[in-house]
Parts: sequence; structure tokens; C-alpha cells
Amino acid sequence: AEQNRELKERLLQLKKERNAIILAHYYQRDEVQEVADFRGDSFLLAQKAAQTDADVIVFCGVHFMGESAKILAPNKTVIIPDERAGCPMADMVNVEGLRALKRKHPKAKVVAYINTSADVKSETDICCTSANAINVINSVDSDEIIWVPDKNLGDYVSKFTSKKVIIWEGYCNTHDMLTVKDVEEMKAQYPNAQFVVHPECRPEVVKLGDFVGSTTAIIKYCKESDCKEFIVGTEDGTGYQLRLDSPDKQFHFATKYLVCPNMKVNNLKKIVKCLETMQPEIYVPEDVADKARLSLERMLQVK
Ligand code: 13P
Ligand code: SF4
Repeated sequence: AEQNRELKERLLQLKKERNAIILAHYYQRDEVQEVADFRGDSFLLAQKAAQTDADVIVFCGVHFMGESAKILAPNKTVIIPDERAGCPMADMVNVEGLRALKRKHPKAKVVAYINTSADVKSETDICCTSANAINVINSVDSDEIIWVPDKNLGDYVSKFTSKKVIIWEGYCNTHDMLTVKDVEEMKAQYPNAQFVVHPECRPEVVKLGDFVGSTTAIIKYCKESDCKEFIVGTEDGTGYQLRLDSPDKQFHFATKYLVCPNMKVNNLKKIVKCLETMQPEIYVPEDVADKARLSLERMLQVK
């Protein structure tokens, strides 16, 4: 506790010296979310990075999020607490694979989940997050869509569009682990609870949801709902904001395995250290960033 207090004091001092803002995804450890200036899902964090007037962005999430922040705010310094925090789903598609699929479907436009590398974004027409995926896909001026990389979100979104959606075979290791059996067991144990679920889960699991949505949408739904008890089908870090917003309600995570190991790599100590050393810094080659920025900016404009 004493060490934590010292770290927090040091952090405040460094933030001032560097004119830095700390952005944290809802899946981060409690100790990281606690010191963040702003918490959010992938969409809100990208929007915040594009708008901030701080000189330095400390991005507490996974690598593609830091990269997206750098692309949207090229004149800022973007640092991350640990460069090992990647996203296995983002790594499931690369430029060569995407180009090959584009050659097979020359008329299709590409919609890429923000969970992709800067390289993949540079070959993309428009990005989306789980918060705006349906609006984004319907905003695209084409009847044929190449969708990368999340097959589960792709399946979900394709139910809300008349377009032909060609879906890549990627998935989130964490959300994809949740099974129908897990949810049924929880429902039997907590019969009064509603099941809220992230669309990165498998289609048959999503189908069981009383509510389906992005991390922010789930938090908002639980806060506003009359229901007092929820079974939660998304990453366990979300519990921090859920409990903060709805202290009188009960949240049961659907399994103890809903933990993204990459998201948990960051901690308070590493945040202080990266602000001290200004390392590791995110760097995106200018030509890649310029192309990738178009796909991110188009996304930010979709209502
Ligand atoms: P959202 O932030 O859009 O809810 O997505 C969840 C996720 O898995 C981020 O890596
Ligand atoms: Fe990637 Fe899933 Fe972790 Fe999000 S929760 S960073 S999609 S592995």
C-alpha cells in the first residue's frame, strides 16, 4: 500500500511534467483503471486520442490500440507500459492474406475491426469497433463486404445487413472460450440474472444474450436496467466500471477464464516507468499511417 501511494504520487508529478494523459481500456487491471484520466472501450479511446490536447498519450490497452492512437494523433508521443501486450486476434490477419482475398473479390469493400495492425488498416476502406460495427457496415457504398478478422462479430453483424459479408476466420481467444454450457450452468445458478454478452463470443453464446453489445454498451445497459443481477459475458476487467456505475447490483462473470492475458500485462509500476523513460514509444511509418488514418477517420464520422 505504501509503495502504491508513492507510485501514484510519482505518477501525478510525471503526468504534469510531460503534459501526459493516461487512457485505459475497460479490460485493464483495477490499479490501471484507477489512475486513468479516461476509461473506455476501443471506440471511445480512439475518439479521445484523436481529440486530446495533451502532448503525451500513455495508452493502457493492447498494441493495436496504441497504434491507432498514434495514427489519429501523429504529432503526439504515444507510449505504452509494455510492448508485449499484443492482441492474438489482430495477429490472425496480415496484409498478404487480406490482399489475396481482395483479389478474389475485387468489387468488395473492406471493413476491418479496429483490432488489426496499422498495415492491415492501410489496406482497409473503413474501420469499425464493436460499438459501431452495424452502422459502419451499412454505411459502406457496396453490396459486398470483406470483413476482417473477427468471425464471431462478423456473424453477428451480418444479421443486421442485407449486404453479402465475406468473413475472415479470426477470433478472440478470450471471448471465444465461453460456451453455451458455461452460460446455462450460470443461468441455473442465478435464475434472476440477465445475461449480457459481447459479440466477440461465439454465435450460439451470443444468441443466449438478454443484451448484446460492446463493453461500453454493456456497462450502460446494466446501469440503466431495472434488473439487479447480471451474468457477464465479456472480459473480467469490465467489473471495475460495472461496480463503479452500479454499486447496488450484482455481477457474475460467466467463467473465471474471461481474462485477456495481454490486457493484464500492464500495471501501475510499468506506467510510471514508461513515463520516466518515455519508452516503449509507438512508431508507425508515415506512408502506412497516412493510409490507415483514412479508414479510422471514416469510422469516426459514421453516426
Ligand atoms: P470493445 O472495446 O469494442 O468492447 O472490444 C473489446 C475488445 O476485445 C477489445 O480488445
Ligand atoms: Fe484481443 Fe480479445 Fe484481448 Fe481484446 S480481449 S485484446 S480482442 S485477445
